[in-house]
Amino acid sequence: MYINKIRLENFRNYEKQDIDFIKGINLFLGNNAQGKTNIIESIYLSAFGKSYRVLKDNEVIRFNNDYCKINLDYVKDNINKENEIYIDQNKKVIKNNGVKINKLSDFVGEILIVIFSPDSLDIVKGSPAKRRTFIDMICSQLSKSYIIAHQEYMKCLKLKNAMLKKDIIDREYIYILHEKMSVYIKKIVEFKKYVIDKLINKAKVIQNNITDGKENIDIIYSTDFLGMNEAQIKKYLDDHLYIDELRKSSIKGIQRDDIIINVNDLEVSKFGSQGQKRTALLTLKLANFEVLIDEKGDIPILLLDDIMSELDSNRISFLLKYIEKYQSIITTTDASFIKDIGNIKILKVSNGRLEI
Ligand SMILES: Nc1ncnc2c1ncn2[C@@H]1O[C@H](COP(=O)(O)OP(=O)(O)OP(=O)(O)O)[C@@H](O)[C@H]1O
Ligand SMILES: [Mg+2]
Repeated sequence: MYINKIRLENFRNYEKQDIDFIKGINLFLGNNAQGKTNIIESIYLSAFGKSYRVLKDNEVIRFNNDYCKINLDYVKDNINKENEIYIDQNKKVIKNNGVKINKLSDFVGEILIVIFSPDSLDIVKGSPAKRRTFIDMICSQLSKSYIIAHQEYMKCLKLKNAMLKKDIIDREYIYILHEKMSVYIKKIVEFKKYVIDKLINKAKVIQNNITDGKENIDIIYSTDFLGMNEAQIKKYLDDHLYIDELRKSSIKGIQRDDIIINVNDLEVSKFGSQGQKRTALLTLKLANFEVLIDEKGDIPILLLDDIMSELDSNRISFLLKYIEKYQSIITTTDASFIKDIGNIKILKVSNGRLEI
């Protein structure tokens, strides 16, 4: 798939802006704080129905305005389609090809993206939460039933945690929740395992290419539930309830899952050099891209926000050669890395406007 055009209205620092995209590299160039990331965010929002930068939807509305709108024209399976996101102070309305979306699970996975930003480094550096989100985003784009299982699991977890905070705990109630949770956990763990296995296969080839065979990458899914059936999962949760009660929160569950990323058999987050972390991240993101292609039979849009400054010249050359065939949206303050590249459109961003 690819994007033809986006129209922003009262979105962040854009009052009204039409942007036309080419199928190749779309490079947004501008100084700091001009509105480059805002463009990336608007595309992300169009794909996931929510932003990765805010907690409240209405924070993306241009200051002193009542609403914002993002219209995205894209082509999928040779069909022209359009997506609209409307947000005002009280509500958000998503329309895909004119049809109102009531559940995000009906929509996520329609517009495929892979985002790579300086924050992505937290996947290889930061807490397990960032790695969980990384895997969760891929799984969500691939499977509606994964999204539903995940949402339902989180609802149960919320109920369980609320009960654990009470003075008198109703254990029977929690045992019933565990029964429901075990069904979702089994589904989620099986699907995550499937996706992580695909990711490993892709990552190994990519890492080998980037490092000329010098670095070998491995991804290990870390969870308590691998290979367990529903009854075993329920028993495991029940058996650990006494610790939950002591801690007044759920210590076991897929909310504690992680992935361990090893480079040459050492955990990269703990022992990797800065360069190894960046390389591993580049590998993971490109593996993510390839897994989506294989599983969806469609090509995602690559959103690369301000990452060229994070990569050395060898990695930049590798990446530019890699993305040549695809549609990408790149932001940067410095375009000096652009040399001998065809199929590129440079758009200058200044204070919430594109310079023509
Ligand atoms: N809701 C909003 N309404 C109006 N302007 C906003 C809103 N939210 C953010 N901005 C403005 O958008 C600008 C930041 O835009 P953005 O994050 O896209 O910058 P950028 O070009 O990516 O900069 P950098 O190179 O530093 O990453 C800020 O100057 C901020 O004041
Ligand atoms: Mg930015």
